Amino acid sequence: MTTRLTVLATGGTIAGIAGSAIAKDYRAGEIGIEDYLEKVGGLGLEAELSGRQIANIDSADIGPEVWNALHPAIMEALAEESCAGVIVTHGTDTLEETAFLLDLTLPADKPVVVVGAMRPADAVGYDGLRNFANAVRVASDPDASGRGVLVVMGDRVFAARDVRKVRTRGTEAFRGFPRESIALVTPSSLEWFGAPWRQGSATSFEWSDTLPEVAIIYAYAGLEATSVGRQVGQATRGIVVAGVGEGNMPEEVREALKVQVRRGLPVVRASRADEGLVDLEPEDAENGFVAARALNPQKARILLQLLLANGITDPAAIQKKFDRR
Ligand code: SIN
Repeated sequence: MTTRLTVLATGGTIAGIAGSAIAKDYRAGEIGIEDYLEKVGGLGLEAELSGRQIANIDSADIGPEVWNALHPAIMEALAEESCAGVIVTHGTDTLEETAFLLDLTLPADKPVVVVGAMRPADAVGYDGLRNFANAVRVASDPDASGRGVLVVMGDRVFAARDVRKVRTRGTEAFRGFPRESIALVTPSSLEWFGAPWRQGSATSFEWSDTLPEVAIIYAYAGLEATSVGRQVGQATRGIVVAGVGEGNMPEEVREALKVQVRRGLPVVRASRADEGLVDLEPEDAENGFVAARALNPQKARILLQLLLANGITDPAAIQKKFDRR
């Protein structure tokens, strides 16, 4: 029986056009889903694909508006008995945020795969066709379920919680932390490293179409406390610090953030370093701070937004969710 997959397109370089095979500049989100499916139709992929355009934009512009259209569209597709899985095409710049948000709010009983490309569709060495073929291979595999939302880039499969874009250019732009890739894939092969870890149709969080505002404060040598005041507005409900090293910050900034905690705003310490854990330190309990553990600042922001949207504001309860693997 042919596997049926739904493809939901949001734009990005995978649907980008430069106008020439060697042009430097290009526009993301130019090819519509129908044309894209026609393009991949010639690859002989062993799945029946149906598509829907959710957006066709550069992923720098992706945010709540697109998420509020994408999430119900995925739920609708997954609810169809004949749909074996969903592929979301997405720009790579904010792909990790969308993938993590979906991971926290979708059931894990059918595969949902997010895929992008680093080179536009008319470039020499366009990686989008291969990545897409790999995504079809993954989404067609019953063993892909129970692993949360998956990201397929550069012949690797990453768990949404781990994946991050680490390079601005090149087809090996994605890595996983703390787990590297969880499978290797080509259009004709797929090898998982380990068994699925999630079961059933339960989601970690209820979907919320109004995510509270969470500010990310980027720490650097010379950051002053006044900067906290400038970046925390009336609507801000939580703060993530992209701290130096293991989530550290100048003392005056720490003091300013303790004031924000007393005002009822949760503060999460993450790191601006590419990799490494930020653990809870003894003084965090006293300060009311939370440690982001393995999540980078942009993912810590997504998790904090969802926690706040679900009414979880107590630092100890928030910490438990950050500790979860
Ligand atoms: C984007 O994120 O939409 C542009 C860059 C890319 O997809 O690689």
